[in-house]
This record gives sequence, C-alpha cells and structure tokens, in this order.
Amino acid sequence: MPKSIIAGIGMYVPENVVTNNDLLKYMDTSDEWIRERTGIEERRYAHRTRETTTTMGVEAAQIAIERAGITAQEIDFIIFATLSPDYYFPGCGVLLQRAMQMKEIGALDVRNQCSGFVYALTVADQFIKSGMYKNILVVGAEKHSFGLDFSTRGRNVSVIFGDGAGAVVLQSSDEPGRGILSHHLHSDGNSAEILAMYNPGTHANYWKEETLANFNDAEIGDLFFSHAMIDKAQVFPYMDGPAVFKKAVEKFPEVILEALTANGLTTQDLAMLIPHQANLRIAQFVQKKLQLRDDQVYNNIQKYGNTTAASVPIALCEAWEKGLIKNGDLVCLAAFGSGFTWASSLLRW
Ligand code: UT7
Repeated sequence: MPKSIIAGIGMYVPENVVTNNDLLKYMDTSDEWIRERTGIEERRYAHRTRETTTTMGVEAAQIAIERAGITAQEIDFIIFATLSPDYYFPGCGVLLQRAMQMKEIGALDVRNQCSGFVYALTVADQFIKSGMYKNILVVGAEKHSFGLDFSTRGRNVSVIFGDGAGAVVLQSSDEPGRGILSHHLHSDGNSAEILAMYNPGTHANYWKEETLANFNDAEIGDLFFSHAMIDKAQVFPYMDGPAVFKKAVEKFPEVILEALTANGLTTQDLAMLIPHQANLRIAQFVQKKLQLRDDQVYNNIQKYGNTTAASVPIALCEAWEKGLIKNGDLVCLAAFGSGFTWASSLLRW
C-alpha cells in the first residue's frame, strides 16, 4: 500500500499586524488581559478587499507546490478546510482551482473548524493509500477579521482570532522511514451550540410550529438572515469560552495518547507536537499533562492568534522552516474545537 508524505509545505499570513493595544480602539479590553488569558500578543488581519480566504490559501499553496518540486498542473485533488469561506457556497476549493489554473480535478471543502486541517489531511491520506491520487493539495485558511464583533460585547471571541493560511502537498511515496502512521477522529455534537455561528442557517426549521404559525412565508425566509439577527449580534461567532477550555484540556491529551498508543509509541518518542493554536494556556496544560519538554511542542499563537483551520499547517510550516523538524522525526498534529470535533495525526516527517 502506498504511504503519504508531506512533500511540500507553505504558509501565508497577511502583512497587517494588529497588536492587542490596537484593539483598544474598538472595545474595552487590555493587552494584559489578552496576554494573561490567551498568550496572544498580536495577530494578522487580511486586507479588507484584496485578500480573501481563497487568495491566502493560494499564496500558501504556491509555496507548498514549489517546495514539493511539482507544478499546480500535477495536483490531482484539492481539499480546502475553512470556516470562513469566500462564499456561503460554492466552497473555496473550486475558487482555488480556478485561481491556480489547475486541471478540472476534484475539489472538496471541509467544514470542521479548528480540527478542519487534521480532518482534511486524514481524507487526503485515504485517497493516497487507496492509490486513487498521487498529489493532493490540502489547505487550511481563514479570514476571521471580516466577521467578528469588534464591540465590547464580542470581546471574548474577537481578541482571539487571526487570519492566515497553510498548505501541504500530500504525496504518494515509498521512501523508507517516512509517512503518515495514523489518524484518530472524534466528535460530540452535544455541545454544538456552545461554539458556533448560528446564522445564516436553516435551524429556524426547528422552531416550534406555533411560533412559525405567527410568520408568513416571506418572513420565514427572513429567519435565514434578518435585520433582527444583526441587531442581536446573532451573525457573529458565539463561544462559551470556559466550557470549551474545560473540554479541550481533557480531549487534547486523550487524542494524542490515543495516536501514540495505537502505534506502540510513547510521549518520549515524540520529536514535535503541533497543537492547534487555540490558547497558549491550553497548550501549556497539555504539555504539562503529557510531561513534554519545551522543545517537543511548537506554539506561535503569540504572533498569529487562533487561525482555526490554518493554525496547524502554519505552526507545522514555521517549525519546519526553523529546522525544528527533520526527515524521519515523529510529529503529532492535534486539534480540538467547535462541534465538538477533535483529532490527531501521527507521522514520520
Ligand atoms: O479554537 C477554538 C476553540 N476555542 C478555545 O479553545 C477557547 C477556549 N477558551 C478560552 O480560551 C478562554 O475561555 C477565553 C480566552 C476565551 C476566555 O478566558 P477565561 O479566562 O475563560 O475568561 P472568561 O470568559 O471566564 O471571562 C472572565 C472575565 C469576564 O468578566 P467578569 O464576568 O469576570 O467581570 C469577561 O467579561 O473576563 C472578561 N473578558 C474580558 N476582559 C477583557 C472576556 N473577554 C475579555 C477581553 N478583555 N477580551
């Protein structure tokens, strides 16, 4: 059976650096609060009109493809993970296919939020292992800055998120001592609404019949997207931060140990853990719980904030560019977020 290797990796973050102090213009917060609670010092915001989730994905993809030593024409399939697509539909995968003038290959969007990249990598790996494709472009990209509540009302969410993109070329290989070993994917929909963006959505269909009886058909259409939703801030992401935190610190170590145990390995074998960059305190908790040394965990949330589906490939790319990951090293990617969904991938770089 063919194995998958990461043959090329790239990242892109917008030029515009937004410090914690810059946010004071919009909301009642402080540099001290943000640093202490999250570890974030600054984040990047995309250009309002010239940059989109897709354009950032393209920038990262170009680097990944070049580093893989192939051309965009040799990509067999695209998997694009994002929660902030250019359009509600179609997805970013086809927009990237068009922008990069690729062949009429398949394009799939993954909507798994923070664990989106790990899920996307898992899907790509199956296509490689089955022999169906040789080169798959896997992208994680987000433009959060377009849709956050920058008033004090939304400060618990808006200070955390940043924009950016990461991409890898997953390639079929028989190179000994390298390749993806396993993936472990999980979900628990019981907490779907505690980290979510409800609108626009069809959930109004679940409203009680007697409530709907008070609306005519045109008004029911309005339930999909209405002025009232904007007035009530129901068009912004909602998060019960402490509840998410509590679950994250339970599930991160669990899914990392699951990956190691399944392969007969221990935390001591790990050269590098790349956790989804949700909160530095979460990553530090996981490090302590697993008794990992500082050089076994890579964090860059300080510079970029939480870039959701882009955070794992951005951190992986940066760690590799700094020479912290070498061929044959055991690397674990792990993520937890909205859904809840959580996942890990274990690989020999
Ligand atoms: O990647 C997706 C997954 N997401 C996560 O993993 C996030 C997990 N959760 C967290 O990272 C943390 O819960 C947060 C960073 C979001 C919040 O930190 P916290 O320590 O849990 O704070 P809190 O929500 O319990 O709020 C504490 C206080 C509140 O004030 P009172 O009620 O104690 O007076 C908030 O109103 O901090 C206040 N607060 C802020 N103050 C200044 C909330 N946001 C801010 C802010 N600046 N930005």
